[in-house]
Amino acid sequence: MFNRLPNIIRKPIIFYFDNEPIEALEGDTIASALLSAGVVEFRKSALSHNKRGPYCLMGTCFECLLEVDGVTQQQTCLIEVKNNMRVCREETKRLITNDG
Ligand code: FES
Repeated sequence: MFNRLPNIIRKPIIFYFDNEPIEALEGDTIASALLSAGVVEFRKSALSHNKRGPYCLMGTCFECLLEVDGVTQQQTCLIEVKNNMRVCREETKRLITNDG
């Protein structure tokens, strides 16, 4: 599991994942902040519906795709998390908006 490096002082921030507040630290990527918070399921595979989550954390595998501030299919391992950012699983948004 993910653990933060000790003795590195960074400012705490809050962002929202599936409408729930998550605490992160400035400089975290969205994926690393979610993994640090214990979130490991980011999406389901299109065909088998198996749970998928970040694997490479360097922009290669595309397993970390989430919707970020209304923009779909974002590689969250490459995006720095910002205060009040809205992130959601695309399946969750479909359920909430009832459009799929
Ligand atoms: S974790 Fe592999 S592309 Fe983001």
